[in-house]
Amino acid sequence: MKGRFITLEGPEGAGKSTLAKALAEKLQHQNIDVVITREPGDGAIGPKIREALLDGDNLDPWTELFLFLADRSQHVLTVIQPALEQGKWVVCDRFSDSTNVYQGHARGLPLPELYHLNILATHGVHPDATLLLDLDPEVGLARLKDQNRLDKEPLEFHQKVRKGFLTEAHRHPDRWQVLDASQPPESLLEQAWAALTSLLAARHR
Ligand code: TYD
Repeated sequence: MKGRFITLEGPEGAGKSTLAKALAEKLQHQNIDVVITREPGDGAIGPKIREALLDGDNLDPWTELFLFLADRSQHVLTVIQPALEQGKWVVCDRFSDSTNVYQGHARGLPLPELYHLNILATHGVHPDATLLLDLDPEVGLARLKDQNRLDKEPLEFHQKVRKGFLTEAHRHPDRWQVLDASQPPESLLEQAWAALTSLLAARHR
């Protein structure tokens, strides 16, 4: 049987990577074979693209977009799709929705083009469930120890990111669940687990 593809999305400092690990542990306890991965940076050429994206200077918005898409294409073909075909479950920290939100809603590139380009970059691989860790950007940014190029964008950019994620989540309520990421990690995990169980049950009835 094909595996399940779960993505975690949200603004900076929302706790996605901690939640990804905790969810993977819970799935492994149920004898499910899980792969944890993230974007940008986990495909074959990912580390180099990640460095260019997060440490680079003066990136034109379109160059930034195409680097995220290049990273995604390689990531899907070499990591995500093979794992799903082996029946594994994939928990991915950010995916195509981050592009729609950061490069579209926040940066201002045209959304219809982004939706289309993402169809190409994902090779038709769609998340079965997406959890949005919603958080006030001021709270999230204050949680960060180091700041990369995108973290250093003005607060207004991060407010657009938050709003953009909520808009995307409402476009596809059958795939998304919005979680309150201001709660402690244990209760966030509990809420995430319940959300995931109900999303997947509804989609794979
Ligand atoms: P990262 O350090 O991985 O941050 P986080 O832990 O918040 O995921 O940095 C990734 C940054 O790249 C983050 O600011 C979101 C941004 N991003 C985009 O702008 N577009 C994309 O398509 C993706 C995947 C990420």
